[in-house]
Amino acid sequence: MKLSDAKKDYYRKLSKKEGFRSRSAYKLIQLDKSYHILKSGNTVVDVGCAPGGWLQVAREAVGQSGMVIGIDIETVTQLAGVTIVQGDIQNTHTINLLIEALKGKANTLLSDVSPRVSGLWSIDHAKQISLSKSSLDTAKQILIRGGNAVLKIFEGEFLKEFKKDAESYFADVHLTKPMASRQRSSELYMVCLGFKSAR
Ligand SMILES: C[S@@+](CC[C@H](N)C(=O)[O-])C[C@H]1O[C@@H](n2cnc3c(N)ncnc32)[C@H](O)[C@@H]1O
Repeated sequence: MKLSDAKKDYYRKLSKKEGFRSRSAYKLIQLDKSYHILKSGNTVVDVGCAPGGWLQVAREAVGQSGMVIGIDIETVTQLAGVTIVQGDIQNTHTINLLIEALKGKANTLLSDVSPRVSGLWSIDHAKQISLSKSSLDTAKQILIRGGNAVLKIFEGEFLKEFKKDAESYFADVHLTKPMASRQRSSELYMVCLGFKSAR
């Protein structure tokens, strides 16, 4: 077994043992350990949340006084203390439903959104960046000043331009790859800290 497959298998087994809905949960745990994104009492929006591993991590981190809202185009099995908005992040109706559910601003937007991959890299990259751009646009509408965002991105030709765009809205933008993310995959996370304000 290759090392990357062994790692995938390790986190899959661990997620089953620890009751997480996905192995992705460990990516958020590791990102939070490094960047301290999730805090007690926070309001967190999670875009592309199904099946719900990140929702579980966020729910635990924000505690009873916090709020977690998940968005996905697919159906998400209910999770105690989490509001689910089912819809497409690229559709204005979904954003309106989110704003209604929020009743105010959010501290953090998480986005692990990814399209169904076709295997044709340039197409998958373009589709994924387009989804992440919609998450960034949503962040601009809902974040408090000083708020944070974590955006999944597939590496490729549009990455540089997308990072530059994010840098004009956040004080610090870091590109990182958590341990739980397969080294072989071209998935990265853009951690955006200190939302300045929408231009
Ligand atoms: C990698 S999964 C997210 C895993 C999740 N973070 C977890 O911990 O369980 C990516 C998700 O993005 C969702 N997605 C894809 N396109 C979307 C869109 N246009 N709007 C909302 N969600 C979308 C998919 O349905 C899928 O559930």
